[in-house]
Amino acid sequence: MPRPIQATIHTEALRHNLARLRASAPDAKVWGVVKADAYGHGIERVFEGLRAADGFALLDLQEAQRVRALGWRGPILLLEGVFEARDLEQCSRLNLWHTVHCDEQIDMLAMHKTREPHRVFLKLNSGMNRLGFAPQRFRAAWTRLDALPQVGEISLMTHFSDADGPKGIAQQVRVFNEITRDLPGERTLSNSAASLRYGADAAVRADWIRPGIAVYGSAPDYPDHDIAHWNLQPTMTLASRLIAVQQLAPGDTVGYGSHFTADAPLRIGVAACGYADGYPRHCTTGAPVLVQGVRTRIVGRVSMDMITVDLTPVPQAGFGSEVTLWGRASNGAVLAIDEPARAAGTLGYELMCALAPRVPVTVE
Ligand SMILES: Cc1ncc(COP(=O)(O)O)c(C=O)c1O
Repeated sequence: MPRPIQATIHTEALRHNLARLRASAPDAKVWGVVKADAYGHGIERVFEGLRAADGFALLDLQEAQRVRALGWRGPILLLEGVFEARDLEQCSRLNLWHTVHCDEQIDMLAMHKTREPHRVFLKLNSGMNRLGFAPQRFRAAWTRLDALPQVGEISLMTHFSDADGPKGIAQQVRVFNEITRDLPGERTLSNSAASLRYGADAAVRADWIRPGIAVYGSAPDYPDHDIAHWNLQPTMTLASRLIAVQQLAPGDTVGYGSHFTADAPLRIGVAACGYADGYPRHCTTGAPVLVQGVRTRIVGRVSMDMITVDLTPVPQAGFGSEVTLWGRASNGAVLAIDEPARAAGTLGYELMCALAPRVPVTVE
């Protein structure tokens, strides 16, 4: 019998969240961002739920190949563009659109032999200082690309550093609009946070939005807002069961390092889920979990294969009871992935991407 741990991908929730993001910028086309194996969900597993996207954005040629193998004939965008010259052959073969963010990528294009001109997304570094041409160099890059027979349509792109925080996007939008004002071509600016928070703002209206995390049921600006506020649904549930119950007396401790000490009689459950399943070890006493759909807390340290949970709010729970680490419990109760992520000092992104290969996944 396999360990009682299971992840479930919720197709209907993916559909709902994608539609929710589309509604945030109704005039824009939507890239379904499926990099990092669809944020840990699995490209093949999310494809049905994200079929209504206008295109798929990702990083990796292998991932692009997988999307084509699923029968997708529409747009695919490489968000970081190519890494070496021969990647361009794959772009030609698979009809991939690609980001151009540096001179080296233009050099590679200039040497590339292709029958069909490539569609490229020229990236402006509007302040994030990760990828993209600096504002003063952007026009020269555009002119150079425009002169290449290997290049067809040139679209314009930037990425926000602070769409989820107090600094916001105004300065980067100003830079982007100023630099690109009289250039032709489609535009794409917004990630999830910008789409949800500023989608209605005329200054960021664009041809495409690129939402990732919100489509996967995590609030990009948690804890300022949660998924209920943004009307998003969990797309991944990580669930386990209790494999043992212990009755503690006052003074008894739990787990490695005796990290938790009971100050009163306490019934605890042991769930089959640990850091080797992708549950963060930084979640410790107080991190939220659901047992039989009832909210309770972890007590003690997360170990490789087990966690220990306080059963006080669920006295009826026992061996075999359902434990929801994140997502949706059988009774419909929701524990957004953002909550354990915050308890671990990280983000929903990291938890969903770190789901361990040993966890069996089903699609619902
Ligand atoms: C260029 C680009 N666009 C869009 C996204 C999607 O961002 P998010 O998952 O925050 O919506 C990312 C993710 O980091 C990205 O790097």
